[in-house]
Parts: sequence; structure tokens; C-alpha cells
Amino acid sequence: MKKEARKAVIAGNWKMNKTPAEAAALIEEMKPLVKDADCEVVLCVPYVDIAAAVEAAKGSNIKIGAENVHFKASGAYTGEISAEMLTASGVEYVIVGHSERRTYFGETDQTVNLRTLAALNAGLKVIVCVGKTLEQRELGYTETLLKYQTKMALTGVTAEQLKNVVIAYEPVWAIGTGVVATDDQADEGNGFVRAAVAEAYGEAAAEAITVQYGGSMNAKNAEGLLGKVNVDGGLIGGASLKAADFSVIVGAASK
Ligand code: PGA
Repeated sequence: MKKEARKAVIAGNWKMNKTPAEAAALIEEMKPLVKDADCEVVLCVPYVDIAAAVEAAKGSNIKIGAENVHFKASGAYTGEISAEMLTASGVEYVIVGHSERRTYFGETDQTVNLRTLAALNAGLKVIVCVGKTLEQRELGYTETLLKYQTKMALTGVTAEQLKNVVIAYEPVWAIGTGVVATDDQADEGNGFVRAAVAEAYGEAAAEAITVQYGGSMNAKNAEGLLGKVNVDGGLIGGASLKAADFSVIVGAASK
């Protein structure tokens, strides 16, 4: 397993937080703290913050992402945003299939797949989220479910497009709860995701793909999690709203 061959990606997921002015201020605060990062630094922000965030991040190593994207190019889809609208706004990354969208907004494995394809076809880099509940873990379905979700999300994605995919393993019980997976649980879950990629695309693709862990990663536990061979980065919620904490995580991924 050649972890050093993979680029670590630390991505913040701001969720439904920050006005445009607050977004710009937080990015200004983060810029000097993450400027020497030896990893990809991404901030996924609410749609209305994108313009301010792109402007604030200009000339820095911070890339701006969105938190969702619709799968149609245009049309009568009130309230939705297309992949082309995102690229035209300076967005480089998009999160697809976050568990909050699966739980609260009816996202399914099929719509996650459609959104992934639309985003990749528009030239975006996609952070695809997979995960399972505590109940599913206790029933022993972790490997089966993670492999299924991963393969479903990637259906129709070409080997070439896979280079623009990051997968985030996020145990649902660890998201926003302060209850983090152990380093070994994160490594195991990420390993199942990587094994699914190997089954679908071969060993070389599986070795090359960045697999993040997400769920209560913070300044204190990041180093242990990121030290695991299958953990190539993090998708960070709460701790990405604090410049100092986020920069410590970026620092841990840069070692
Ligand atoms: P959290 O969120 O870091 O606040 O647990 C992670 C996520 O939802 O991506």
C-alpha cells in the first residue's frame, strides 16, 4: 500500500453555516495558516457564499467547493444548481451524497450516482460520501454496505474520470456527534472502500484513489486518523468552521 503516492485532501464542509461576509472573513483568517500545506485544501461552502469565497481564496492554495449539485444541465428544477453553474462560478470541487442529504433530502444511491456523473462530466472534482449507521455496523454489514454504496455511486464513471473522484467514508454515528471512529475503525472502513474500487477498476486505481475519513475529525484526533495507511485525508464539518482547528488538521495531513 503506497500511501505516499496519494495526494491527501483535507476538505471543510461548512454545511448551512456562514453568510458571504462571514465566509470571506474566515477564509482570510485561514489563508496564512494553511499556505504551506503539503496537501490539497478545499472548503465546501453554501451556494450563496461561493462568489465571496472564490474571491477571498484568489491567489491562495485554498480551493472552493460546493455541497451538492443537481444532475440535470438546466430546466424546471426549482431551487437546484447545475454543475455548469458551479464551474462558471469558480468552483472546483463538489460534495455528493453526504449522509445529511441522504437522511433529510431523499438522496438515494441512484441520485448520488447521477450527481456524480453530472459533476464529473462538467469537469468538477467530486467528493463522494459513503457511510453506514451504527445499527448496520452492529449487524455486521459494514463491508457489504460500503462496497455497495461505493460501486453504486461510481456506476458509469470511467477509469479516467475516477482520477477526479475522492471518496469520503463517514460513519453516520460519528458525524457531528463528537464521537469519532477509532483510528482502526476508520482505516478498516476506508479499506473496504478501497477494496470496492479495486474490484471495479483494478488494483492500480485503488492504490491511486484518495479516500478520506469524515465524522468528528478534529485538531486533537486528526494525526492518529491520518496516520493510518488507508486514510488519505478528511472531510471536516464542525472543525472547519474554526481557522485554528482546521489549520492543525491541514498540518497533520502535510506531514
Ligand atoms: P463533523 O462533520 O466533522 O462535524 O462530524 C463531518 C461531515 O459531515 O462531513
